Amino acid sequence: MRGVFITFEGIEGSGKSTVSKMASKYLASKGFKVIHTYEPGDTAAGKEIRRILLDPVHEDMHPVTELLLCFADRAEHVHHLIAPALKMGEVVLCDRFTDSTMAYQGFGRGLDLKMLREIDAVARDGVWPELTILLDLDVRAGLQRNSHAGKKDRFEMEEIAFHERVRGGFSSIARKEPERVKVVDASRSIDAVFAEVRALIDQILPDGSD
Ligand code: TMP
Repeated sequence: MRGVFITFEGIEGSGKSTVSKMASKYLASKGFKVIHTYEPGDTAAGKEIRRILLDPVHEDMHPVTELLLCFADRAEHVHHLIAPALKMGEVVLCDRFTDSTMAYQGFGRGLDLKMLREIDAVARDGVWPELTILLDLDVRAGLQRNSHAGKKDRFEMEEIAFHERVRGGFSSIARKEPERVKVVDASRSIDAVFAEVRALIDQILPDGSD
């Protein structure tokens, strides 16, 4: 069995973590060995990087610092978790990856996309998703969904215009790479959203018997 890498992307409150966890359970029930993971923060060093990235105390962090922290987290994640799991033939479901860096630091913060792609290539070292599910949602609806979650992090505190640029960035990536990136309307019920996601996953992972 070959390793398969699938990523989930979208703005704040788009439901990525719920949907990707449902996908993980679904694939495990079909007999796949599945790892569910996320960026930033799912390694030992990554946890500390995530804390720095999200802490509102670093309100004035320079965009390049933010970018390099995201890439440092990715390098740890790829080398310690994702690549080894793929080598073992496992299915890796990842909540956020390269497209988030393009959308947030590129489109959101306005950093040069070509420069981002070049450093990203170093960080991910050849690892690339076969399928990306983009959960698309109106920015205000997403932020509203997240508002009950308590204190806002450094990204949630950004103005609406920033989140609109991020959403536009994701859409632009999806338009350029329609084979890899599948857009799912996340404004519907979780069951309706997951039914569509499941069908997309079934197309590349029909069964888990071998
Ligand atoms: P999360 O809320 O989905 O766990 O993600 C934490 C925040 O990190 C989210 O606001 C998006 C941001 N982020 C970036 O800005 N660039 C990146 O490359 C990644 C992976 C996340």
